[in-house]
Amino acid sequence: MSGPSAPGSPGPGSPAPGPLQGARVLLTGASAGIGAELALRLAQLGAVQVLCGRDSGKLEAVADRCRAAGAPVTTRVVDLSDPDAAEALARDAAEELGGVDVVVNNAGAPMRRRVQRLTAEDLRRTMATNFESPARITLALLDGMLRSDRGVVVNVSSFGGRAAIPAEAAYCASKFALCGWSESLAMDLWHTGVEVRLIVPGAVDTDIWDRPGSDPAHYSGDLEAPGTVADGIVAVIVDALSRTGRFEHYLPDLQAVAEFKTASIDDYLAGAVAFADAQEASTDPESDPEAPPRS
Ligand SMILES: NC(=O)c1ccc[n+]([C@@H]2O[C@H](COP(=O)([O-])OP(=O)(O)OC[C@H]3O[C@@H](n4cnc5c(N)ncnc54)[C@H](OP(=O)(O)O)[C@@H]3O)[C@@H](O)[C@H]2O)c1
Repeated sequence: MSGPSAPGSPGPGSPAPGPLQGARVLLTGASAGIGAELALRLAQLGAVQVLCGRDSGKLEAVADRCRAAGAPVTTRVVDLSDPDAAEALARDAAEELGGVDVVVNNAGAPMRRRVQRLTAEDLRRTMATNFESPARITLALLDGMLRSDRGVVVNVSSFGGRAAIPAEAAYCASKFALCGWSESLAMDLWHTGVEVRLIVPGAVDTDIWDRPGSDPAHYSGDLEAPGTVADGIVAVIVDALSRTGRFEHYLPDLQAVAEFKTASIDDYLAGAVAFADAQEASTDPESDPEAPPRS
């Protein structure tokens, strides 16, 4: 099957297209939150998308909004806790689109559970969904991108992938892994036409806080609007398509906190534990404020 025209190529008599016009995009986690907002923005800018999620009803609702914006969209219901299914998704999308110009590895699942209660299956699922599947999707698309000497890989990690959060060891491990993978990927592809970008969201107002299978979050502060984060990701993609822009993007900008953690790890650990203890004491009548700190 022949794919759409190369991104940015003008149609007869039409105004100069933006860089996303006709861009072939694979977007995971498109059924909700940041991904749903991003799908709509990419559609409005003329991208041709394959959208992935698990909840087919929500995914189709997002796809319908994209189609109403005039953009071709197809959907794939895939559970990315299975990395083999993730690789198959990438191969299917590349075949359907005739190649992928931009992949946004946005799907992610929370795992808020202290290590004392964390199971091997919790760890496997979280690493598979948040790290191994994005990596396998990228590997499956890489040959095609290298052959055409163009492509953009956007990995959505987390502030928890730069500075760990109490009671989220599995989630943070998966997001740290995605950061390390992305850094090395960027270096290995430095001399190619394939651009790698890392998104580091802070606290964003999405369903991720209420998904079943996780303990309540300690954090109860301000939340960024998902549309604002999606706007930021669009700007990153537009720059990357013209091979400009930085590698890493904190949305919102929490880089100073991550830098404090790197510079003062013992202070960061003590402060994070004190914050979590205070939050638990205020919500859990059973908690013991005199409990000795963990050594
Ligand atoms: N919200 C925040 O505060 C925050 C902070 C830092 C980083 N992030 C990261 O931002 C990204 C987007 O999260 P969000 O806040 O938009 O969360 P969300 O509203 O919960 O949406 C998560 C998306 O990922 C998909 N997904 C989750 N597990 C999946 C699986 N096993 N297989 C396939 N798809 C799966 C969901 O699909 P279904 O709904 O169809 O299951 C949904 O489309 C994630 O990588 C998240 O870790 C978010």
